[in-house]
Amino acid sequence: MSQDVLNVTDSRTNQTYSLPIENGTIRAMDLRQIKTGSDDFGLMTYDPAFMNTASCRSSITFIDGDRGILQYRGNPIEVLAEHCSFLEVAYLLLFGDLPTQHELAEWVGEITHHTMLHETTKRFMENFRYNAHPMGMLVSTLAAMSTIYPEARNIHDAPNRLLQIKRLIAKIPSIAAMSYRHSLGFPYVYPDNDLSYAENFMNMLWKMVEPKYVANPVMARALDILFILHADHEQNCSANVMRSAGSSHADPYLSAAAAAAALSGPLHGGANEEVLKMLDEIGSKEAVPAYVKRVKEGHGKLMGFGHRVYKNYDPRAKIIKWTAERVFEVTGRNPKLDTALELERIALEDEYFIKRKLYPNVDFYSGIIYQAMGFKPEMFTVLFAIPRMAGWLAQWQEMLTDDEQKISRPRQIWTGHATREFIPLAKRGPLATTPR
Ligand SMILES: CC(C)(COP(=O)(O)OP(=O)(O)OC[C@H]1O[C@@H](n2cnc3c(N)ncnc32)[C@H](O)[C@@H]1OP(=O)(O)O)[C@@H](O)C(=O)NCCC(=O)NCCS
Repeated sequence: MSQDVLNVTDSRTNQTYSLPIENGTIRAMDLRQIKTGSDDFGLMTYDPAFMNTASCRSSITFIDGDRGILQYRGNPIEVLAEHCSFLEVAYLLLFGDLPTQHELAEWVGEITHHTMLHETTKRFMENFRYNAHPMGMLVSTLAAMSTIYPEARNIHDAPNRLLQIKRLIAKIPSIAAMSYRHSLGFPYVYPDNDLSYAENFMNMLWKMVEPKYVANPVMARALDILFILHADHEQNCSANVMRSAGSSHADPYLSAAAAAAALSGPLHGGANEEVLKMLDEIGSKEAVPAYVKRVKEGHGKLMGFGHRVYKNYDPRAKIIKWTAERVFEVTGRNPKLDTALELERIALEDEYFIKRKLYPNVDFYSGIIYQAMGFKPEMFTVLFAIPRMAGWLAQWQEMLTDDEQKISRPRQIWTGHATREFIPLAKRGPLATTPR
């Protein structure tokens, strides 16, 4: 059977090369043979921000950005959000198939029994400044957990890996809740094993002096749906960091801390916090046109709009909008919703946004729901990190068990000086280019 090839002719040498095409891809390493002479390193690709580079093979999450499709292991996100619990979806991401009833019961039981934090972790967190950003607390605490579970560095041992995966998925809501309670000056609430994953998180967040916390079922389901929508998203910035840090064989706690740090940025998971700030800045529905005009003139971005991959619509945003309506039936309508809806309406009709294929993304409405549920904006990215842990770990495990993967290490195009003559300190005069 003939193989598809890309024939390229190097104008420098007039030589033609046949590069195999597989899965719509050529191998960057196949370009290395293209040289002008024996001392030439060989051709490389230049792809800042990985705009057109596949860094791995993956069977976890599929996105078709042009058609607005998101699937976990072949299951459409809409179906999973309607019929599954978050832990069922986490199982799917990690093990490849939806669990049977027995497998799910066992999985939920195991996660539930790992929710407790070590007391030293609790004390570690108590020592953050009273107004510490919860995301900084989360990143630091994930890294600190590496010191509590030193065996986690044994990443080639599959059962040991699974134990750390269970611990991370089980404990991240406990860390998140602790960071929230810390910011309010409230004591830490221990997990309640009678409750579901989302209910127990709500218990650790909001239990006061009542003997038993009872979660509102609509809110608990809404939180679970939000967790499902945020569980994985293919090779996004933080998943790429998880794989990259993990490729050095750092343990999963340190790799997850690195991934969470990447998530915290306003261009990634931090965007939901920025959306709320933006809606506050706009102030009212009436002020929307003036704000959009400013953005079009190059003053800032519409936070919660645009996506590197989705150029049609973000399927998660649709489900979130639906979920928001259910939440508002319980909490009352968040007044910011009117501003958000007007912003969406105006932007979707505007040539600037249409031409650039800018649509509301997952972060546009999630912040409004979180606020209606009673969360401060600083908590929003932490809420994103809780379910994304399942995705990070699935990506990490896939990377570790992929024979083609090695330590992640990109190349560069050198733009600096050629070798320079050393000038002793006493003889160095002020240079025009030295920053003052
Ligand atoms: C998500 C994001 C980082 C994707 O960036 P990207 O794929 O690199 O897209 P680009 O930055 O190349 O944007 C393409 C064009 O759209 C414009 N653009 C992108 N997002 C925009 C936004 N939110 N508001 C206004 N203009 C935007 C860019 O200025 C650029 O315009 P130009 O062609 O005139 O220079 C970007 O859309 C963004 O910053 N969005 C806001 C933050 C956000 O919501 N992040 C959450 C993602 S889930």
